[in-house]
Amino acid sequence: MPRQPITQQKIAEHVQRLGDLYPPIPLGSVDRTIKDPRAVAAKFGHVIDYLARVELEVDRNVLELLCLLPDVDDTNKTFYADVWQPQEIQHGLILDRLQQDLGRTAAEPHLEVSFKIKILGALANLPAIQDVAKLLYFLTGASTERQAVLAYNQINTGLQELGETAITETIITPIKQQEPGHFAFYQMSATAMIQDNVLQPWQLYVARLMREKSYNLVGTNAMDRYKADMGGVIVDLGLNADLEGYAREVGRLEARLLWANRNGMEFPPYILKALRESVDLYEERLKREGA
Ligand SMILES: [Fe+2]
Ligand SMILES: [Fe+2]
Repeated sequence: MPRQPITQQKIAEHVQRLGDLYPPIPLGSVDRTIKDPRAVAAKFGHVIDYLARVELEVDRNVLELLCLLPDVDDTNKTFYADVWQPQEIQHGLILDRLQQDLGRTAAEPHLEVSFKIKILGALANLPAIQDVAKLLYFLTGASTERQAVLAYNQINTGLQELGETAITETIITPIKQQEPGHFAFYQMSATAMIQDNVLQPWQLYVARLMREKSYNLVGTNAMDRYKADMGGVIVDLGLNADLEGYAREVGRLEARLLWANRNGMEFPPYILKALRESVDLYEERLKREGA
């Protein structure tokens, strides 16, 4: 059966609903009880540090968006200004306080827009390039939000096993509830562009090429030290036991939308490559530090 077409109306309603359903989580709603801070820090301290930093980088993501989509429409504006940024910044603040409650140092978000994004932003003043940038922006959003959903699911299970109910019930679960709606927004937006044939074949070709050259896992910012940090997150969450399965979870949408010309591709190979690279960099770092 053909999928129901995704209309701009549907996307706008989704954004409206997210705003109504999920007000930003107040810091005051968190129960800061931690049963065994040492055990939590030993097992998940690094993951919490990583997530806190990435969530706090939402303010840079907004600057990137304004750079890449100079002609951003009302739905996108409402999403990032009224729903996404206000929710993500609270995720960041709450996790940053948790990491400090665990005796770890505060997050240092990387807030500078990269040179690459600035170049692409300058080119995006050409409407044909802006459409390419827009698709890449939606695919990046879908990929990073999907990784967030998976990470919060894993850490929630791990913290439940440690019996840290205050953290799971008043921090991770409320955050976790907000991420799938973000993913759905980007998924619907990217799907609508493909389904409506917004891009010419040459533009899709450029999009594939750029994606292949510039794919980054969530929060790695194309920098080796963050890639190594991400490798640590993958290992700490136990995801390295099945990297291909993880690549499939993250890359399914993108394989379907961007690589429909490659029959049967389950996930784009650059996703698995990025995962392996991160884990390798992490292991090299461990070796260097003599652990
Ligand atoms: Fe978030
Ligand atoms: Fe999110």
